[in-house]
Amino acid sequence: GLRERLREAAALSRRYWALLRCRVWPEDCDGDEEARAGPLGWSLPLLGRQYLDILTSWYCSFQDCCRSGDCRISNNLTGLASDLSVRLHGQHLARELVLTAVRGYLEPPQPHKALALSFHGWSGTGKNFVARLLAENLYRDGLRSDCVKVFIATFHFPHPKYVDLYQEQLTSQIRKTQERCPQTLFIFDEAEKLHPGLLEALRSHLEAQAPENHRVESPRTVFLFLSNLGGSVINEAVLNLLMAGWSREDIKLDHLVPQLEAEIAKSTDSGFGQSRLVKENLIDFFVPFLPLEYRHVRLCARDAFLSQELPYTEEALDQIAKMMVYVPKEEQLFSSQGCKSISQRINYFLP
Ligand SMILES: *[C@@H]1O[C@H](CO)[C@@H](O)[C@H](O)[C@H]1NC(C)=O
Repeated sequence: GLRERLREAAALSRRYWALLRCRVWPEDCDGDEEARAGPLGWSLPLLGRQYLDILTSWYCSFQDCCRSGDCRISNNLTGLASDLSVRLHGQHLARELVLTAVRGYLEPPQPHKALALSFHGWSGTGKNFVARLLAENLYRDGLRSDCVKVFIATFHFPHPKYVDLYQEQLTSQIRKTQERCPQTLFIFDEAEKLHPGLLEALRSHLEAQAPENHRVESPRTVFLFLSNLGGSVINEAVLNLLMAGWSREDIKLDHLVPQLEAEIAKSTDSGFGQSRLVKENLIDFFVPFLPLEYRHVRLCARDAFLSQELPYTEEALDQIAKMMVYVPKEEQLFSSQGCKSISQRINYFLP
């Protein structure tokens, strides 16, 4: 009798161990019928399920555990959609394009190429903000995540004479991050100032991988390039459309992207347009950020008060929006700094 009990107990504890493993490392349970059939542990008696819950939370108190398999990766597309429509102002094209591109890329099947998006527009129009929203909704720790790296051209790669060293560092940082995380995000701010040598070093990371290089789990990688290249072309096109009586929200990508791409390709003061990333079509989407108007700046000011849980008045919002410079001289339609440094400006209006 005792031997029988012990054998049962051993079988049961093996079962608990298997179920615990499935909860903590879902990728290890592919062959487990029960794991696939329903909530883990459903076949156990109630006491057994409670025991499994206790065991799981005990285990997870020293170790990251998540249903998705990797707790650092949250991929909250609902949150991303909501942030892009509620917190980003005046960018209906970027909102749609970024969401569609990222959603498509994260869906199965596993892609065999990185996703590369290039954000273009004047400063203060929301390029950095969208990069941050992406990091925050795709990763638990946002921009501080192990899986996310931000490079600012003039800060990380300031001296052209060290470009060889930078190339090595960049390649090794990308590789290390990819080894650490199955899904990574690399953000290049001031992309128009990246040295041609660095753009060239990035090329192999953006190219589709040949089938023989396919690992069992090919990693997902998103590259964002943020620059003001083509900003003036976007602004001009938007100005012309508005002057012709268009409503801003009716402006379509087709109105802007062909001109934007042409401008990038012919820009000579920056290596970006001349790089093989652009010439070999390794950038999947060029995303135009429109110049912001008075009403958008007002919304940014309101958000700045709300995010600090401070009270505000409509007059304060107007006063802040009026502090910005609007161009062109005649029409005074677009804030020349977009929503830049609005959050500092609210300090003048605190009670
Ligand atoms: C996704 O984001 C939304 C909005 O920010 C939030 O309410 C929700 O809890 C998030 N979902 C997950 C699974 O984190």
